[in-house]
Amino acid sequence: MSDSLHVLITGAAGMIGRKLLARLVREPRLGGVPVERMTLLDVVEPQVPKSAPFKVSSRTGDLSLPGEASAAVADMPGCIFHLAGVVSGEAETDLEKAYRVNIDGTRFLFDAIRSRNDYRPRVVFTSSAAVYGGPFEGPVTDDFHLTPHSSYGVAKAVCEQLLADYSRRGFFDGVGIRLPAITVRPGKPNKAASGFFSSIIREPLAGETAILPVSDALLHSHASPRAAIGYLLHAATLEMDKLGERPNLMMPAVACTIAEQIEALRKVGGDRAVARIQRVRDSLIERIVSGWPHEFEARRALALGFVPDRDFDEIVAHHVEDELGGKAGA
Ligand SMILES: NC(=O)c1ccc[n+]([C@@H]2O[C@H](COP(=O)([O-])OP(=O)(O)OC[C@H]3O[C@@H](n4cnc5c(N)ncnc54)[C@H](O)[C@@H]3O)[C@@H](O)[C@H]2O)c1
Repeated sequence: MSDSLHVLITGAAGMIGRKLLARLVREPRLGGVPVERMTLLDVVEPQVPKSAPFKVSSRTGDLSLPGEASAAVADMPGCIFHLAGVVSGEAETDLEKAYRVNIDGTRFLFDAIRSRNDYRPRVVFTSSAAVYGGPFEGPVTDDFHLTPHSSYGVAKAVCEQLLADYSRRGFFDGVGIRLPAITVRPGKPNKAASGFFSSIIREPLAGETAILPVSDALLHSHASPRAAIGYLLHAATLEMDKLGERPNLMMPAVACTIAEQIEALRKVGGDRAVARIQRVRDSLIERIVSGWPHEFEARRALALGFVPDRDFDEIVAHHVEDELGGKAGA
């Protein structure tokens, strides 16, 4: 890495993009190198922080339209966090958009990098646990085959292959991190099929009702937004030699049932919070979520130093600290 760094975040107006930006504003270094400049790109206008210790420029544009990716990398940012994408629920209901944004947009970005001479940035790509599909026999391990059961997962798997090939050819140094469900997601619900994992904690703690569309027995794996940002920053500074021939890897996650999530909610919000969960089964969501793996053994990521949450209680505690000013229970 050079003496100072220009960072590009695609999908910068999204949940993870905003949290990543906030963290870099607080701690403006990557692997000890100061961040000197930041470019934010999103189809929705990204918010520029009022006071940042580096120069921030913001671009509003659709990465899947010709020319947008080239413009975004024109100044050759040294580190690119590629987060832009259509999430799982929307991808399943709008195939054309899912493939255009998630596959074509990613390829445009990768080709824009490839077309520059003397340019080899770090590219961190947010893949997803949705690249795996059943049948599952126990936890998914690092060498489990990719057979996605959703169009979202297919697009992520395609982009992982592109990332691996472009990295192998030396166009950039890519790291693909397969994120589990990010729970508790702050703000309004989005169109992700996994949204209810967060809603059943977030809404009751805010004094609102939440819909639970699946069985209490469903087992699933989670990482807090705080842990996810830690994964992104670690991926940005990881020594490429340590990754070997497989630049895409599953991130560690906390596995628990919906019932265990609800018990963690009860510990901070009491029975009143738990009573705000309404059970209304949804067959589309059940079908998508049941096709995802429930548990992982992310040994490679752990050996490479990615640090997960301790348990679901800690995930709820992070939400209370980061989003509710440390005070739970409305
Ligand atoms: N949050 C999770 O649980 C989770 C889990 C696994 C993987 N991921 C992946 O992490 C990334 C970020 O997730 P998030 O939770 O912040 O999602 P998000 O929906 O909050 O953010 C995605 C952003 O991408 C932008 N975007 C969509 N189409 C675009 C386009 N054509 N051009 C430019 N920008 C575009 C959206 O406007 C949005 O701001 C995504 O790639 C997502 O697939 C998220």
